[in-house]
Amino acid sequence: MRSPRSFGHAALAALLAATPAHAGDPAQVEQGREIFKDEGCPQCHGFGGKGDGYLLGMLKEPVKMHDWTDAATVQGWTDEYLFDITKKGGEAIGKNKVMLKYGNKLTDEQLRAVTAYARSVMPKQEP
Ligand code: HEC
Repeated sequence: MRSPRSFGHAALAALLAATPAHAGDPAQVEQGREIFKDEGCPQCHGFGGKGDGYLLGMLKEPVKMHDWTDAATVQGWTDEYLFDITKKGGEAIGKNKVMLKYGNKLTDEQLRAVTAYARSVMPKQEP
């Protein structure tokens, strides 16, 4: 069952996914967008992935966030990397420990969806 509202989101997700090259499955991207919001990822990453979340100003130590909409920033990031850091957290893979692990909260399927959403806001990578 789809309400008109969720259809709107799916249509928007499809539109967003169609623009960058990493299209992804629109339904998966939409699922990921919900998870992103529900898990509080925007508190740091911002709703659009620009790294402008409100929580950052409250951390004891300043954190440098990455702007997912900047082509040069996301250059070289593989899907495995995005999945791994979200599943295991930054510290486990030698990155910033402020990025917590979500592997104990989200299933692999949910992790794939949320990273598909992250991918959907990133510009196309150069080959
Ligand atoms: C408390 C702040 C915070 C929250 C909340 C947070 N992150 Fe992060 N995240 C970070 C930081 C800081 C990095 C950069 C780690 C590094 O490169 O050292 C990061 C990195 C990432 C990366 C790798 C790309 C990048 O920006 O460097 C992905 C993908 C990611 N986060 C996804 C998520 C998802 C999905 C959620 C919610 C389930 C989430 N994050 C919640 C702080 C946060």
